[in-house]
Amino acid sequence: MPGHPLRYLNADALDGLGLGMGDIVDILENLFREKAKGELFMPPKIFFHRHGPRFYSAMASAAPALGFAGCKWQSGDPANPARDLPYIQGLYILTEDETGQMVALMDAKWITGKRTAAASALVARHLAKTNDTQLAILGCGLQGRAHLEAIKGEVPTLTHCRAYDIMPDRQAAYVAELDGRFDMAVTGAESAEVAVRGADIIVTGGPISENRQPTLAPEWVLPGALLITIDYDSYVTDACIAAMDLVLTDDRGQIEDARKNEGKFPGVTRVDADNAELIAHGRGRRTRDDQRILAFNLGIALEDVATAAEIYRRAEATNAGTLLET
Ligand SMILES: NC(=O)c1ccc[n+]([C@@H]2O[C@H](COP(=O)([O-])OP(=O)(O)OC[C@H]3O[C@@H](n4cnc5c(N)ncnc54)[C@H](O)[C@@H]3O)[C@@H](O)[C@H]2O)c1
Repeated sequence: MPGHPLRYLNADALDGLGLGMGDIVDILENLFREKAKGELFMPPKIFFHRHGPRFYSAMASAAPALGFAGCKWQSGDPANPARDLPYIQGLYILTEDETGQMVALMDAKWITGKRTAAASALVARHLAKTNDTQLAILGCGLQGRAHLEAIKGEVPTLTHCRAYDIMPDRQAAYVAELDGRFDMAVTGAESAEVAVRGADIIVTGGPISENRQPTLAPEWVLPGALLITIDYDSYVTDACIAAMDLVLTDDRGQIEDARKNEGKFPGVTRVDADNAELIAHGRGRRTRDDQRILAFNLGIALEDVATAAEIYRRAEATNAGTLLET
């Protein structure tokens, strides 16, 4: 019996679907509301280092409420940019939930790039202050770029971004490319500390290290700041974690698994809310403008399937990509 043709969507095909960053933030908001109902399925992601900074991960989930399940296989290697390859590479397999048929294969780098920044922007939608003006970005790579667009989209009062990268040429390229682009001034900072001090919203996007050497100290973080990490606890010191008024994460099970099985997050002694609890029930929300809030966004498989589901709907409607016979 012939199988369902598989729709293959590379990055160009994905770009052509008109799925904007704001659309993905809304998709994730809806996803976390569904997640709060407890009817979505997501085992902890498989994540392991292969001697040194290279990591592999596999992330699977099923969202009957959205009609789909799926899995992402990816690698991450900080040595890759010097090889002219992306740090993170991967493929996403989308499955129709009702029948279990594989229906699409997609470039996962595109999905990861967008949904990670959209997830941070969603946190900022719910936890930023109304008068935030200063953004700090640590790590001027793919995520640093996507986050500038995504967070400005949700916090339009931002006027200035200070960006820091350990590679001065990458930092300079970031500033040259983005200064003024999203109606924000973008300047380079000579250190992470200079970037972070005085910022209302901080995003840490350096590499996820096997042996972390965190430097981000509590005294760098302004009262009222929102600190979002997408690089686990690689940048934030345990003292910084302990000093925060509220600690959130995207999924309690995910961070607990990383603590128990990967030895990560030793400094996390409490989680006040996860994103589903925040978005559906207001748990962990800001109650004072001087609260310092830390959000660990590890990235979860349900964000991938929700984004991939909308991609597939649009691709089916426009016959985008290439059909592969199975
Ligand atoms: N949480 C999630 O859902 C999620 C998803 C995707 C990527 N990530 C993580 O986000 C991070 C960035 O990913 P990317 O795709 O943008 O990678 P990238 O290689 O495109 O960019 C990373 C940048 O960080 C810089 N850098 C390295 N060490 C630094 C440091 N100590 N301080 C400041 N800059 C530093 C590098 O020079 C590089 O320019 C990685 O840790 C990746 O694993 C997380």
